[in-house]
Amino acid sequence: MAGVRKFFIAGHGGMVGGAILRKLQQRKHEGDTVELVTQTRSELDLTDQGAVRSFMQAERPDVVILAAAKVGGIHANNSYPAEFIYENLMIECNVIHQAFSAGVGQLLQLGSSCIYPREAAQPMREDALLTGVLEPTNEPYAIAKIAGIKLCESYNRQHGVDYRSVMPTNLYGPGDNFHPENSHVLPALIRRFHAAQRDGLDEVTIWGTGTPRREFLHVDDMAEASLFVLDLSRDIYEANTRPMLSHINVGTGRDVSIAELAALVARVTGFGGRIVYDPSKPDGTMRKLMDVSRLSEMGWTARIGLEDGIRQTYAWFLAQPDHDLRQK
Ligand SMILES: NC(=O)c1ccc[n+]([C@@H]2O[C@H](COP(=O)([O-])OP(=O)(O)OC[C@H]3O[C@@H](n4cnc5c(N)ncnc54)[C@H](OP(=O)(O)O)[C@@H]3O)[C@@H](O)[C@H]2O)c1
Repeated sequence: MAGVRKFFIAGHGGMVGGAILRKLQQRKHEGDTVELVTQTRSELDLTDQGAVRSFMQAERPDVVILAAAKVGGIHANNSYPAEFIYENLMIECNVIHQAFSAGVGQLLQLGSSCIYPREAAQPMREDALLTGVLEPTNEPYAIAKIAGIKLCESYNRQHGVDYRSVMPTNLYGPGDNFHPENSHVLPALIRRFHAAQRDGLDEVTIWGTGTPRREFLHVDDMAEASLFVLDLSRDIYEANTRPMLSHINVGTGRDVSIAELAALVARVTGFGGRIVYDPSKPDGTMRKLMDVSRLSEMGWTARIGLEDGIRQTYAWFLAQPDHDLRQK
């Protein structure tokens, strides 16, 4: 495409936004004519409608990538449901509507696999959306994410813009949240096994039976997939999201049991003690796996293997000056 394309990456300070920004910077370095615009939360609070409007009108980007959201694990979702639904709805409404008002033709927003019903058939296909009851612990967050998909669909239908949505599986990688209470399972395991190895413990106890299965995608793969989806021609994107859908799953298409994952993290962190399971604690959903056939048929598959990805993430964790205290 001739001329400079101006991108606004909302949430560039987060794990996913940061990875997308790095990929775009790399493209720029390799000669792509892109201009990259970012704002910290203190410069632009995306829940503030007036501020987002002024920003979009002043900047008028060609492309918006919406990777900003209030994100957290089960504990945070359970403790702060009002914040999860309010802030995510506000961010989506403000960014999507004000992007449209400022003439932004192309937008990509990040959703989540929790949009699918709790009892969705596995692996979860895109058309499982709105076919059943959601997982109650993160329902407010999921409702906001579903609203984001429907906002994009509605603006596409009514205004003919090209607003796309990608639904990632569990992500991990540099920039992840290692908070002891608010983190997702993989960074939580890295933190716990790291501490156990450091303190010379003989044993680490993990909640549940270790048998539930989960899927994990490295955030650099996610960033690549996001740009792949953004770069698809409109015809191809629309042909693959028919009839009413506007979202595409992103994952590896492979899952591991929590016990396999724990063994992998123990190996990477050098923990040599025993791993014990506490079956009196809840297991959660037994399996959560994305059906990624749409994306793979269009030509994208994940490249970073789980062990390599965990090794790289652990190295990143260790390189953080405050990693033994790290909270976010
Ligand atoms: N992490 C995962 O496993 C995962 C899985 C599936 C989908 N996703 C999706 O991917 C997207 C990004 O997630 P992430 O893991 O990168 O989250 P993250 O690391 O918490 O990053 C979120 C970013 O959004 C910014 N933000 C939040 N509220 C804001 C506001 N009101 N104004 C301006 N900026 C605001 C945060 O800024 P501060 O740094 O100032 O807080 C942060 O930079 C989300 O839509 C999430 O649903 C993530």
